Amino acid sequence: AGVDAAGGQPAAAPAAPPKAAEPLTIIYASESGNCESLAGNVAKLARKQGFKPKVIDFADLDLAVLPKAGKLVAIAATWGEGEPPARAVSTYNALMGDGAPRLDGVEFAVLALGDTSYAEFCATGKALDARFEALGGKRAAERADLDLDFEKPAADWIKGTLKALAPAPVAADNVVAVDFARAASSEDDEAEPSREPVVVEVVEHVNLNSSRSDKETIHLALAFEDGAPAYEPGDSLEIYPENDPALVEEILKATGLTGDEALRRSLLAERDITTLSAATVERFVKATGHEEAKRLIEGGEVRAWIEGRHLIDLIETYPAALTAEHLGGITRPLPPRAYSIASSYKEVGDEVHLAIAAVRYETHGKARSGVASTHVADRISDGAKLRVRLKPNRHFRLPADPATDIIMVGPGTGVAPFRAFVQERRAVEATGRRVGRSWLFFGDRHFTHDFLYQLEWQEALEDRSLTRIDVAFSRDQPEKLYVQHRIDQHRAELVEWLEGGAHLYVCGDAKAMAKDVRLAVENAYAAVKGLSADDAAAAVSALERAGRYQQDVY
Ligand code: 2AM
Repeated sequence: AGVDAAGGQPAAAPAAPPKAAEPLTIIYASESGNCESLAGNVAKLARKQGFKPKVIDFADLDLAVLPKAGKLVAIAATWGEGEPPARAVSTYNALMGDGAPRLDGVEFAVLALGDTSYAEFCATGKALDARFEALGGKRAAERADLDLDFEKPAADWIKGTLKALAPAPVAADNVVAVDFARAASSEDDEAEPSREPVVVEVVEHVNLNSSRSDKETIHLALAFEDGAPAYEPGDSLEIYPENDPALVEEILKATGLTGDEALRRSLLAERDITTLSAATVERFVKATGHEEAKRLIEGGEVRAWIEGRHLIDLIETYPAALTAEHLGGITRPLPPRAYSIASSYKEVGDEVHLAIAAVRYETHGKARSGVASTHVADRISDGAKLRVRLKPNRHFRLPADPATDIIMVGPGTGVAPFRAFVQERRAVEATGRRVGRSWLFFGDRHFTHDFLYQLEWQEALEDRSLTRIDVAFSRDQPEKLYVQHRIDQHRAELVEWLEGGAHLYVCGDAKAMAKDVRLAVENAYAAVKGLSADDAAAAVSALERAGRYQQDVY
């Protein structure tokens, strides 16, 4: 014990010969793919250490396998207001319900991913951790609750947890340590090369809304000088944003810091200087000893107080002398933001197109703005450089057979990946292959101001890369009209398409739209096929399990 894995000696002794492989079940509940790729990392390292790992998506998990798992690692994301990822919901509910199997004799460990800028940080992972124990499982390693900068701490947790799950070492502790070190470094070597951030040039920057719109959606074309990374329609691109320089100045002013060049640079491009979480307040109190802020925590009012507030509100409300080090310690690293790619490589070559809606709102009497979206909207223009990184999404993919019909539901910027889909299928058709029908549901506020990519859809209808479009402009009439209402109206045809093998895709708002659309599709099944609500929901779940109902929501 006490051997530091990272400090292992160069491999002088041969690696320990693998004993009978120890089965390890790794389950993951992933929304955007992070938990999934971490599950893959656990499996890779586990295999090198003599485990026999099996990775299972919550969406495909049969709970009956868990009692036999012996050793279990669960990696779970928390989404929106404390919810499990969409694909994991039904299995998660079953696990939390009365019918869940006992886990006596199972050793488990949970890794939780979340985002401290939302309430209910890591709720899914916390609940799983408690549930496994309640069902009789034995916690082999403490849970870690990780924020958006999870990569390094996740790697550490994985190493430690596999060590804890490993059968008791026979004596050759050193050998195990050496093996760890080697496995970890070759792990790094295998990191996907295209996932490194690269600097790209903005070659197009246009507002897709009219100047009279209350929205501003920027179409961005980015040029990759050394060739675009191999991306597929459905993938996302992460942007490494910069903060608003005006906010940097406000923060400096509120802290009384003069702000040398290095500090300014760090606050501008490296630290998250907007997000305020309970953890931020705690770190602030620890750093400053601020009595009043401390009472906020002790009185249990933090959660309510931070609602709608940002870091600047904290340091303005509770003035304290903060050093640059304090600021660095209180804030988290500025995370990149992912946007669904709106182009197909086959049509645009070494470019990536994005459609980004500027996020602006007001809370507590202060104007607020989304970091990356207003960086793009307000502070860059043609010729500017941006740092970006590809984020693949293998759960949002066109059907393998281009002859399969597709139905796309994408209001607002949710339409972005469908521009990629339509471009892709047009390019495929140009090679002489038969391409299936495509049906787009689009919605936004006003026809005249907000019909994103209108001319392109018209051209697509003309060249038949788009078969049909139904639009819902919510504010062009007294009653709200949404994409799901269009689905209701055309439910017979929608079910007919789906029964004929069509794949359905939903992209956009997760909180309300995606749920309402799912309900509309369930209702369509119920009405058209005379099913009960439960059976209709089961029919849609079956589509989902077959990969024929896919979501990319945010
Ligand atoms: P609203 O802003 O008028 O409420 C893209 O943002 C479009 O999605 C807008 O027309 C918006 O309408 C609409 N929208 C808002 N909530 C929705 C929901 N629950 N379901 C579907 N569309 C919704």
